[in-house]
Amino acid sequence: MAILDKHAILEKNVTLLAIFAFLVVTVGGIVQIAPLFWLENTIEDVEGMRPYSPLELTGRDIYIREGCYVCHSQMIRPMRDEVERYGHYSLAAESKYDHPFQWGSKRTGPDLARVGGRYSDDWHVDHLRNPQSVVPESVMPKYGFLENRMIEPAHIEDLLKTHRLVGVPYNDEMIENAKADFAGQIDPDGDTDGLLSRYPNAQVRNFDGQPGVSEADALIAYLQMLGTLVDFSTFTPDASR
Ligand code: HEC
Repeated sequence: MAILDKHAILEKNVTLLAIFAFLVVTVGGIVQIAPLFWLENTIEDVEGMRPYSPLELTGRDIYIREGCYVCHSQMIRPMRDEVERYGHYSLAAESKYDHPFQWGSKRTGPDLARVGGRYSDDWHVDHLRNPQSVVPESVMPKYGFLENRMIEPAHIEDLLKTHRLVGVPYNDEMIENAKADFAGQIDPDGDTDGLLSRYPNAQVRNFDGQPGVSEADALIAYLQMLGTLVDFSTFTPDASR
């Protein structure tokens, strides 16, 4: 009875109740969240993940600038209907170089975590120009102007350096070659050995089919890479950890 009497003090004093509630939530939060920073398997290392190439990273910035995440998520949940529709559920490691991550919380359009390789570049060009021309009932806005906006990669080294600052392992070689790699990725006739050694499995081609690097090139390079880095035919979750 005595302890209940003491609890009555809390119930009758709103300030005291707020203070104690705050303490309880804080302790609970720390107990749940803090271990994740030390557990080794919070983000399982997965073969194939690499930092985005300069062109892909630029495309990702355009994706964010245009608010594509408002209608598209990039996280496939491990539920049967999602896995059957979109492919293997998303792994934490697949977003580990995303700052900020693009999981999203709204699906007006489909999830895009594995859209890479699902359509041709031409399809993407048509779809961005006029989504209703390929999917008549689509509510997606038109983004044809991206083709007409050419990119001068004046700040590409800085962009890579900024991502390095927050933990993406861009090395000096990647930063030195950022401009060349940026332009090199749309030029399959050029020397692409360096690009491919720095960014294995990068897709090299002229994505929008017109000369020069346009915002559409960068965005399509990004979309075509999504979900293609990890080879799921050989991937097995590491159960030992
Ligand atoms: C107003 C909501 C909306 C916005 C904003 C939006 N989309 Fe969409 N998107 C949709 C809808 C709805 C669909 C499904 C119909 C279709 O294919 O057009 C779709 C489909 C797609 C598809 C095909 C996916 C698949 O698996 O079939 C891609 C790729 C795509 N959008 C990319 C983008 C990109 C890139 C942007 C930003 C430049 C963007 N979307 C902005 C609504 C949106």
